[in-house]
Amino acid sequence: MNLFSPLTLGDLSLPNRIVMAPMTRSRADAQGVPSPLAVEYYASRADAGLLLTEGTGPCAAGMGYPRTPGIYTPAQIAAWRTVTAAVHARGGRIFLQIMHVGRIAHAANRTIPDAPVAPSAVRAEGQMWTDAQGLQPNDAPRALELAEIPSVIGEFAQATRNALEAGFDGVELHAASGYLPNQFLSPGSNRRSDAYGGSIGNRIRFVVETLGAMIAAAGSPGKVGIKVSPGMNFNDIQDDDPLPTYMALARAIAAQHPAYLHVMRTGIGAEGALRSAFAGTLLVGGGFGKAEANRMIEEGRADAIVFGSSYLANPDLVKRSTRRSTRRINRRSTRRARKVTPTTRCLGETP
Ligand SMILES: Cc1cc2nc3c(=O)[nH]c(=O)nc-3n(C[C@H](O)[C@H](O)[C@H](O)COP(=O)(O)O)c2cc1C
Repeated sequence: MNLFSPLTLGDLSLPNRIVMAPMTRSRADAQGVPSPLAVEYYASRADAGLLLTEGTGPCAAGMGYPRTPGIYTPAQIAAWRTVTAAVHARGGRIFLQIMHVGRIAHAANRTIPDAPVAPSAVRAEGQMWTDAQGLQPNDAPRALELAEIPSVIGEFAQATRNALEAGFDGVELHAASGYLPNQFLSPGSNRRSDAYGGSIGNRIRFVVETLGAMIAAAGSPGKVGIKVSPGMNFNDIQDDDPLPTYMALARAIAAQHPAYLHVMRTGIGAEGALRSAFAGTLLVGGGFGKAEANRMIEEGRADAIVFGSSYLANPDLVKRSTRRSTRRINRRSTRRARKVTPTTRCLGETP
């Protein structure tokens, strides 16, 4: 078993276990409509086992960065349809990552005047880029009212329906990297004293309910995955002891049978712990090269590996990896001590 073994993931059959990471490309227009460049970007990587798109807003309130796409207007849905059609025409599979930024936002990047929303009215330290005013501090958010939370969850469900209408094979809930779902999970950003804050059971509630609503909207758990990043403090996430929260989350979502749990590893070993708490398909990403990726799969520590930065400049990552594997096998079988100088970087390996 290695990166090139097929895998059943939710409702899909993947020809290999190489997954392209969700990566913001900042190429959409000011209305969140993906540009034609997105068609070429995704279609040229269609031989991945699975493509995950850049983070995409479920609603205007969920947008915070310049030139990022959405999935809540007819123009956005139509533009995404050209992307999914091109990927499918090349035989690929693609999930849309749904990303609500919560408090990681600036007014200059938004189409609505409302303040950003968050679990609590706690501003995230840090700055973000705006095209009009350069680097700016993140805006101060307002706390969501308890009565508003179902409608926010409803926006994730509607975004799921829109994504399927746009031809996606499924959706990924972005619960990593300090955005709205992650803000609910973490005590630094979630200071609520109602059913959505305080205890671990309360802090995971928003994510569990949102995943459930997305699965209901998709009509199948096999069309919905979720990404987490335990221990990552990006975007001013503060949590001195993240593992118990993520273990509880993994156990809760295991009962919902999503297509996969995608863990971005951060050096605290959470991916190993979550493997034991989550019986479903596990995707792990973060700094992988080919050799380590194959080892993870061989040893059963992950079902597929997610590659980010190596995919940016290498749309043909899958082909390059196959070529080099073949060359290595040939070399061994002929037992020739021939020196090969690789000219291309492959899955983060140094020659
Ligand atoms: C340019 C860039 C943009 C990214 N945007 C997103 C994003 O929109 N959503 C997300 O979940 N992760 C995002 N990430 C994180 C990647 O998905 C991935 O977790 C990370 O790059 C680690 O994998 P790597 O070491 O193989 O690059 C981004 C990473 C990069 C390099």
